[in-house]
Amino acid sequence: MNRIEIALGQRSYPVLVGASLLHQPSHWLPLIPEVPLVIFTNERVAPLYLDTLVSALGGRQPHTFILPDGEAEKSFDNYQRALEFLAQKGIRRDACLLALGGGVIGDLCGFVAASWMRGIRFIQFPTTLLAQVDASVGGKTAINLPAGKNLVGAFHQPSLVVADVSTLTTLDEREYRAGLAEVLKYGAIRDPELIGLMEQQVTALNRRDAALLIDLVSRSVEHKASVVADDEREAGIRATLNFGHSFGHAIEALTDYTRYLHGEAVAIGMVAASHLSEQRGLCTPGTAARLAKLLQQLDLPVTIPADLSTDHLLERMGLDKKNVTGTRRLILLEALGQAYIDSDSRDEQIRRAIDHTR
Ligand SMILES: NC(=O)c1ccc[n+]([C@@H]2O[C@H](COP(=O)([O-])OP(=O)(O)OC[C@H]3O[C@@H](n4cnc5c(N)ncnc54)[C@H](O)[C@@H]3O)[C@@H](O)[C@H]2O)c1
Repeated sequence: MNRIEIALGQRSYPVLVGASLLHQPSHWLPLIPEVPLVIFTNERVAPLYLDTLVSALGGRQPHTFILPDGEAEKSFDNYQRALEFLAQKGIRRDACLLALGGGVIGDLCGFVAASWMRGIRFIQFPTTLLAQVDASVGGKTAINLPAGKNLVGAFHQPSLVVADVSTLTTLDEREYRAGLAEVLKYGAIRDPELIGLMEQQVTALNRRDAALLIDLVSRSVEHKASVVADDEREAGIRATLNFGHSFGHAIEALTDYTRYLHGEAVAIGMVAASHLSEQRGLCTPGTAARLAKLLQQLDLPVTIPADLSTDHLLERMGLDKKNVTGTRRLILLEALGQAYIDSDSRDEQIRRAIDHTR
């Protein structure tokens, strides 16, 4: 098992990464406070792991709040239902919420924890690769509104994250691969060795080798930890984690969030952003091709589909909420493993990068 510290002063916490951790409570039970506990999970994850977590908690008898599955459940209605559940169960400020699931459960549970009685403790048990390498660490919590995703939320750090890579064996193939795209992203922006490792280990990656996953999840969490420690509230460097996201968000939005998983759209977006970086003379030619080859070996999409027009994509990119007013802020690469926050790309250069990614 690896232990990574997220260094945020009084809000610091450990992330534990290992195999079969849910079955080995001796590693984490001592870190769970002896207070009333409420597990948040969903109908997909509950039959797989809820009993295991409850028995690992020994005689602790937590309450359980089980949501239907899906991104649509990260809603205001469910947020309100969750608060009413806590009220009905008499949950006080001393309690601790446990999020067992992917990013949807983690984000919603985290936002409930952030706002219930002005903030109570919560612990993440992420069960998707995306949640283990990204969503469970860093303290962003949110719910969606009909007007847009993650529009309401808070920064609220968990007090512990337990990432059991054995839970990844039951993930759908596409969900697993979408998570790999996020791992590759850390390599692209901060860690060329990680890209090299993934290139060498394609077969082991494709069979979800536990030892390799412990290594990749740990390295990813270390990267996220270091970015978050430098910039908890995304004033600057944390934005580099959005590499591939401006193009990716536009692709997701124009396909109504139904054709691509987020990680798949980010995979295409990373290729487009690398093409733009090459064109701008920022990184060596061949960088985009190298990333695209690895993404393809991991069965991820790397091209922008023909039915999405360049004009529409550009327009959507202008609407990206991460842009500082008036400019298109993009994360580009100065080299593989070195990200750069850019606001100088001209529309025709972005157009050319989109066309290169067809
Ligand atoms: N807070 C952050 O910093 C942050 C970062 C990235 C993404 N997010 C959010 O995370 C969400 C996406 O997270 P996600 O990709 O984990 O989606 P998700 O939570 O919907 O999980 C994906 C699917 O896998 C299922 N699942 C979860 N664990 C499983 C397991 N072990 N075995 C089988 N099935 C399992 C889920 O029920 C769901 O159907 C989005 O809402 C996004 O906004 C948040």
